[in-house]
Amino acid sequence: MCGIVGYTGTKQAAPILLEGLERLEYRGYDSAGIAVNDGEKINVVKSLGRLAVLREKSDDGKAAPGCVGIGHTRWATHGKPSDINSHPHVSENGRIAIVHNGIIENYAPLKEMLINRGRVFKSETDTEVAAQLIDFYYNGNILEAVARAVRELEGSYALGVICSDDPNTIVGVKSHAPLIVAYGEDGNYFASDVMAVVSHTKTVSYMEDDEIAVVSQSGIKFYTPFLDEIKKEKCTVDWDIGAADKGGYEHYMFKEIMEQPDAVKRTIEPHIINGKADLSDVLSRDYIKNISRIFIVACGSSSHVGVIAKYNIEKLARIPVEVVLASEFRYCHPIVDADTLVISISQSGETADTLEAQNEAKHLGAVTLAIVNVEGSSIAKSADKVIYTKAGPEIAVATTKAYSTQLAVTVLIALYIADCRGTIEKSEYNTVLTELISVPDNMRKILDDKANIQYLAYQHFNMEDSFFIGRNIDYALSLEGSLKLKEISYIHSEAYAAGELKHGTISLVVDEMLVIAVATYGKLVEKTLSNALEVKARGANVMGLTTESLKDKVSTVTDEIITIPDTHEVLLPSLAVIPLQLFAYYIALYRGCDIDKPRNLAKSVTVE
Ligand code: F6R
Repeated sequence: MCGIVGYTGTKQAAPILLEGLERLEYRGYDSAGIAVNDGEKINVVKSLGRLAVLREKSDDGKAAPGCVGIGHTRWATHGKPSDINSHPHVSENGRIAIVHNGIIENYAPLKEMLINRGRVFKSETDTEVAAQLIDFYYNGNILEAVARAVRELEGSYALGVICSDDPNTIVGVKSHAPLIVAYGEDGNYFASDVMAVVSHTKTVSYMEDDEIAVVSQSGIKFYTPFLDEIKKEKCTVDWDIGAADKGGYEHYMFKEIMEQPDAVKRTIEPHIINGKADLSDVLSRDYIKNISRIFIVACGSSSHVGVIAKYNIEKLARIPVEVVLASEFRYCHPIVDADTLVISISQSGETADTLEAQNEAKHLGAVTLAIVNVEGSSIAKSADKVIYTKAGPEIAVATTKAYSTQLAVTVLIALYIADCRGTIEKSEYNTVLTELISVPDNMRKILDDKANIQYLAYQHFNMEDSFFIGRNIDYALSLEGSLKLKEISYIHSEAYAAGELKHGTISLVVDEMLVIAVATYGKLVEKTLSNALEVKARGANVMGLTTESLKDKVSTVTDEIITIPDTHEVLLPSLAVIPLQLFAYYIALYRGCDIDKPRNLAKSVTVE
């Protein structure tokens, strides 16, 4: 995961690039670099480490003068972080500099071809191969060289390219990686994410795969790989720059946890019309009446939303729902036809497996509905129908507010389908809807009472292993609680359906181990408590997560307790997720973890 940005205009490029990279640093921070054309040559400054190191090394950008430049912040997943692997990469003769987000899969044969023609390489990265290939095809016209080179590239990439002969132009091109271009007053931009440029302009165009943008001081033109000019529409972004700041909090994750009540309110409000969950502008009532099954495809936390949605949709709307990890969907021979609705869930709208799963579903004839946070993203654009979550930019690597807004949308969907198909009593419909509208207020109550969760986190931050157990929606929520904990605190943790633990895995439960029993669902609380007793018998400490009204019953078994307000069972996960997010956050805080960033996964592989 990397961030890229570019600027060409009347101002010095380097300060704009450094500011843009700061906004993108959440996408990667193990190295960063800029390349700026000073009118005669390209000056590159890059370094291992955080952006602050690059700032210092480049003397706040002064070491790279000029008005056209590109920048990159890197989070290595394949090549080890090092000065030499940092971007921008430059062709052997210094003529072409590029930044790249993605992986060029066929870099090896291309490199061999270039070496056979006498090219010498400095790094082992796929990106340097792209820089050399573009230079190889350069014949005085940078657009033609990029177009010629990308016809040979396979894999995923968003590239920004500058050329020493052309002190005005950046060429951007993408395939299966996000890229936008933006129109400013003093110049124009490209970036992997609108957040990099939104302090300068809110007018953007979203690039499609295989489109090439020529970004110059005076305007932006678009071409096909065969250089036919194409027109693209401009859009206005409604995110403001404040949304990407930490707002006085120490971490984006904490800020985003606190933003959840407003995010959920913003998300559901447009779809509650005349006292009903109304999605008729997205899916007609007639269509809903005729569907025979639903698939939900997603990855990570978004797939955990899918698991809760399955329980809720099946409960309220009595239609079969299958949740399939997006990375598995294409390979599991899904039984999908024109009567199948396939719902993909994604915060970023760019997760490759989810996009591929959605495309496969379309190919098989299903109607596809995407629940997406980022407008104009690839998943949103390629779905038949879209419901946007209104979480605003989610910067922290561990999702919180996007998860909550996705969950709220799935409740709207469950209600809408249940109403269309006549599977829900009016009184229950009204209760669920009223409780959905109350979610933001109930979330605020939990957030106001976070001191207890912080205290409990302090008691446990040194633990090495933990289990989350629960049944039904509580099991689905355990999946998310466990992922949050391991993702940011690096504590080993597993989520288990409470009744399943005894079939082998319970042998891992040892003295003093923390087991979090999610027991919010009244109908199954006794059963979950009996499983809690099983782990207690093996010496575990059990922390219960339950509702106000079940608190007395649950505390008879558990050693510690966290409570949430009572609500309709369908909405319990929407509230119960908040203590789990806070618990993971505080544990990571006490352990001194780098909360907003993923751990460095780069080890020994040298291909980027
Ligand atoms: C976990 C997390 C990930 C994402 C997953 C899917 O905190 O954020 O598990 O949920 O990578 O990402 P999106 O929703 O962008 O498709």
